[in-house]
Amino acid sequence: MKITLRLIVSLILVSASVAGFFSFWQVQSEKKRMADDLERRSVVLSESLGESVKIILGSKEQKKLDRLVEKFKNRESVLGMIVFDAEGKAITSESLVLNGWASWDSQIKEVLQEKTSKSGFEKMGKKRVHYHAECLMKDGVPVGALVLLEDADYIDSHLKKIWQYNFIRLLFLSGLIILTTLLVVRWSVTGPIAQVAEWIKKLRMGESIQPPRQFRGDILGPLAAEVSQLAKSLESARASAEKEAQLRLSGESLWTPEKLKEHVHTQLGDKSLYVISNREPYMHVKQKRKIECIVPASGLVTALEPVLRACGGLWLAHGAGDADRETCDENNKVRVPPEEPAYVLKRIWLTKEEENGHYYGFSNEGIWPLCHITHTRPVFRLDDWIQYQTVNQKFAQSILEEIKYEDSPLILIQDYHFALLPLLIKKERPDARIALFWHIPWPNPESFGICPWKQEILLGILGADIVGFHVQLHCNNFLDTVDSVLESNINWEQFSVQREGHATQVRPFPISVGMTSEETLDKVDAMKFRETIVKEYGIHAKHIGVGVDRLDYTKGIIERFRGIERFLEKYPEYVGNFTFVELGAPSRTHIQKYHDFINEVEKTVDTINWRFQTKDWKPIVFLKAHHSHSDILPFYKTADVCLVTSLHDGMNLVSKEFISTRNDECGVLILSQFTGASRELRDALIINPYDTEAMADCIRLALEMPEDQKRERMKHLRSVVQDKNIYRWAANLISAMSQLPIKSNPNAVGV
Ligand code: G6P
Repeated sequence: MKITLRLIVSLILVSASVAGFFSFWQVQSEKKRMADDLERRSVVLSESLGESVKIILGSKEQKKLDRLVEKFKNRESVLGMIVFDAEGKAITSESLVLNGWASWDSQIKEVLQEKTSKSGFEKMGKKRVHYHAECLMKDGVPVGALVLLEDADYIDSHLKKIWQYNFIRLLFLSGLIILTTLLVVRWSVTGPIAQVAEWIKKLRMGESIQPPRQFRGDILGPLAAEVSQLAKSLESARASAEKEAQLRLSGESLWTPEKLKEHVHTQLGDKSLYVISNREPYMHVKQKRKIECIVPASGLVTALEPVLRACGGLWLAHGAGDADRETCDENNKVRVPPEEPAYVLKRIWLTKEEENGHYYGFSNEGIWPLCHITHTRPVFRLDDWIQYQTVNQKFAQSILEEIKYEDSPLILIQDYHFALLPLLIKKERPDARIALFWHIPWPNPESFGICPWKQEILLGILGADIVGFHVQLHCNNFLDTVDSVLESNINWEQFSVQREGHATQVRPFPISVGMTSEETLDKVDAMKFRETIVKEYGIHAKHIGVGVDRLDYTKGIIERFRGIERFLEKYPEYVGNFTFVELGAPSRTHIQKYHDFINEVEKTVDTINWRFQTKDWKPIVFLKAHHSHSDILPFYKTADVCLVTSLHDGMNLVSKEFISTRNDECGVLILSQFTGASRELRDALIINPYDTEAMADCIRLALEMPEDQKRERMKHLRSVVQDKNIYRWAANLISAMSQLPIKSNPNAVGV
């Protein structure tokens, strides 16, 4: 109430001062205007009467003079007229009106002597009177004087009215101010604050998490957003605590962000986790003059981001967004995620040559096709190799700078872009505990053997203490490759490589995702979304299939479409009844192969659509764009079947993401046998993407599978993903790293 009162009093004081000032100004100008008016009228009247009076004075006819005076008396505001002779003696009988005008005698004499006129205001009794005295001249000699008296009281009463009117206006305004202030404060401040307080109270008691539908007034907007975030964190902490308790009771152990955080704390104490990857988890891009923050389409990012959110630390990556520099501080750092900062992203800037040689060239035209068996020839150029080395050096320098003051830091290097980095760091900092996680497959020694720089790559990788792959087969392939390329001591029992006194463990760590929270899933109404896609994309079909990929030739997208084509051919009852939605994110498009691949995908979609489409239906809807998680989620939740048909894939997290969204335990996953995920997700329908016939049958099987079987499969799949989630992956890897022998930092003081 205090604030309301303060607000009201200040508003009224300000309004009263403004009103007072303007009323005073209005009264003054009005007074002047009216006085001038009266003056002008008196002068005109005196001048016109003066002529007649002069003639009568000359004729000395007193009666005529009296008649003239009588005629003007009490006309409008005229009180009277008095005529004086040349000596200043009144010759008309108006002495009554002059009562109270003490100085009239001397005034008239002055007018006659100076042959002039004079006017002014005088108080006569209670009246305010305006007089105008005019000297009457004949042949240059004063023959008398004329005084015109007018009532000036009306000016005062008019000015008084102005004051009164403005005062009433001020009273009315103050009333309005009080009322409006009370209403605004009630609606925009006290009301919403009371709602927020009530909501926070409910949160505290664990009753509800939904914020009041809308906060009236903008003041509380930011507070509401913050409290919402706080509420979400509280809710998820509470949920996982409850889950933990339940699991503890049932003797199980589920990995949650909180548990991982706790685990990391006990394993590492106050040590930070350093993650290095080429792709950054958050990219700032300019879109129509606005800066947007997007999460790039990358399995690596999908997996690692929740880990960093849980544990904090520093993530070093290439700043590839066109607004990345603008959003960093002077040390090229930015705290992310933007809505709830939990860790630091440090961006490294690469020149065009470096990016071309390192990322597009050696990494994605060389190692990527080398490691994926998709019959795409790798290209090895010396220039690319040089840039690859330069960029690895650049990242090494940056991380060495970051870990300068930390003993035995934990460094988690990601993927094939940084094969040389482990050794570069290890040479400088033998105490650093380094793991390299290779997110893509590792081929057999014959396939790998074609790389001209195979030795350097293997030596670089073996600088790590731990090398992780998704599946055992890739570990075996790696050790076979080391065996065939390098002089080393391989311990097949321990799965490690011993070289020059340094041991590298090679182990499978199948990566995963976190389960999508119930709260996020509850926000998606699958029925409503069906209506949306009818409107937006004209998808009327009864059955919907979905595919989510980076547009990459390893993903088997063309093979998938061929399978769909064959399915419609073989089972024509599905023509008009089945639509497949492909959410394809363009990727690495500066590489000719990727560019051509997108054209080929588009052409295939066109051909198949042209062949089967009807007036209001088409078999494939190809949505070529970068899609956010929230864009993809409703498609996952609505689909009857999800197709993952990679020709070769380290793990493939789309398959796990799809499962994590199906809390309705519906939907069927068709999964390529060439993905790492197929080893774990046994209840998916496993296919060979090159076998078009089998794929067509599999789609039919998925659509016609009895509901209870679908549920049974999805239930199993969900329990696998829930159990072997990303937090378990991170916990296993971090445990392995923390168990590495501690060495001393050669740069430390006193060492
Ligand atoms: C694969 C790689 C990742 C990479 C992702 C996206 O999942 O293993 O390292 O980030 O593809 O590719 P991009 O080239 O866009 O980073």
